[in-house]
Amino acid sequence: MLFKVVPLFLLASMVLAIPSKLGARVARRRANRQSQIINRLEQVDSAISDEQYSDNWAGAVWAEGDNTFTFVTGTFVVPTPSGNNGDSASAWVGIDGVTCTSAILRTGVDFTVSANGPTYVFYPDIAGYFPDITITAGDVVKLNVTASSPYSGTVTIDNLTRNEKVSQDLFSFSRLCGQDAEWIVEDNRDEEDFSLVPFANFGTVTFTDAIATGTDTYTPSGATIVDIQQNGKVLTSTSIAGSSVTIKYV
Ligand SMILES: *[C@@H]1O[C@H](CO)[C@@H](O)[C@H](O)[C@H]1NC(C)=O
Ligand SMILES: *[C@@H]1O[C@H](CO)[C@@H](O)[C@H](O)[C@H]1NC(C)=O
Repeated sequence: MLFKVVPLFLLASMVLAIPSKLGARVARRRANRQSQIINRLEQVDSAISDEQYSDNWAGAVWAEGDNTFTFVTGTFVVPTPSGNNGDSASAWVGIDGVTCTSAILRTGVDFTVSANGPTYVFYPDIAGYFPDITITAGDVVKLNVTASSPYSGTVTIDNLTRNEKVSQDLFSFSRLCGQDAEWIVEDNRDEEDFSLVPFANFGTVTFTDAIATGTDTYTPSGATIVDIQQNGKVLTSTSIAGSSVTIKYV
């Protein structure tokens, strides 16, 4: 199976008001995410049947038939990224973008190493809504994505530590198929040349209460495991146990 990813969810409006250079980079990256082909998953080792490698995605992926998934959820503890200034990664859950290449509906958190400590950005972040909540390492965050039609959906982020919830309605001009469900840690791409941003050491991200529903209820158990491999080096180690997906930086 060859994975391809084309995120195309277009947002109703957006505000990019983060002052720092880093903020501008993150903001541009986010803007690109909304409209451009960013991720490409490639199978590089066909000898391993249950595991695939990608240059920028690690986690668990279900790829089923059309209209299988309308909801995906997962909860994780926000990690402290380490490495050099600017190293970054993100953790998110989503629908489509793997075998359905016309659109992706997802939500999560970007984390970037900076001189003053890690910076966190929720995405998609529109209309100044998600930025209203701040995020700190150790927070327990529940992510939900719900497709309400092939062209619209809702994403929510719920700070379980503080019981604070935010939600965004999104729409797309391209069709969401409901074919794929995924729980992912991603190495982000540069907003300008799409090269990979140096990957932050995120330690471990574990998605718990990971469930996808639609025609049926799926846990990650039995899903395809994807790990990140760059220049012949495997950078993550992913495992699945029941309704949890654990992605470790190695
Ligand atoms: C979650 O709550 C904690 C503590 O109550 C707070 O420090 C943090 O900023 C909140 N995070 C989010 C994502 O709202
Ligand atoms: C997220 O989905 C769960 C169901 O798995 C639901 O109980 C919860 O209220 C949802 N959170 C938000 C913020 O909508």
